[in-house]
Amino acid sequence: MNHSSMFSSILLLHSLVRWLVLLSLLFSVYRGWKGWREKKDFTRVDNSYRYWTVFFALSQLLLGLWLYFISPIVQYFLHDIKATIHERDARFFGLEHIVVMTLSVLAIVIGSEKIRKKSTSPEKFRTMFIWFTIGLLLILSSIPWPFSPFTSRPFFRMY
Ligand code: HEM
Repeated sequence: MNHSSMFSSILLLHSLVRWLVLLSLLFSVYRGWKGWREKKDFTRVDNSYRYWTVFFALSQLLLGLWLYFISPIVQYFLHDIKATIHERDARFFGLEHIVVMTLSVLAIVIGSEKIRKKSTSPEKFRTMFIWFTIGLLLILSSIPWPFSPFTSRPFFRMY
């Protein structure tokens, strides 16, 4: 596999896994809210929502890190930061996206550990709702949506 086909494969995966990250987060936030409000028991199903949300978020972090080292736009950003920091696209992928997304994954991982340590169901649900909502909002703000004012990329990649 040459360098550029490796890049497009990882980019394709990173673009796709975004939907798994978003869906698992949305479901978990909803379950957290519902379980907390309706005083449900935190079951093994709830725990598996927590687990898969962390799994997809960490996978996306790894794919993102990998991309960071091979992405042409990041390389362009890094070669002369003083100048490229003023360019929208280069700054977004070279700096903003990686910082906000790493923080969001951190919120998800910390939240998950807190959920595990809480001893009662309402506390677990509440922790899941709060920390995963923080992660979700950070992620929503830093995806290069086609309608994003920062930088736009397609909803789906086809190659
Ligand atoms: C965890 C949540 C994350 C989500 C939902 C996410 C989502 C995305 C999306 C949708 C794209 C556009 C893909 C495309 O052009 O089709 C993208 C690009 C990119 N992401 Fe992420 N990302 C995340 C985390 C990260 C992290 C933590 C890093 C770095 C460590 C990273 C590095 C990159 C890079 C370098 C690109 C652009 C590559 C290029 O176009 O040259 N991402 N990301």
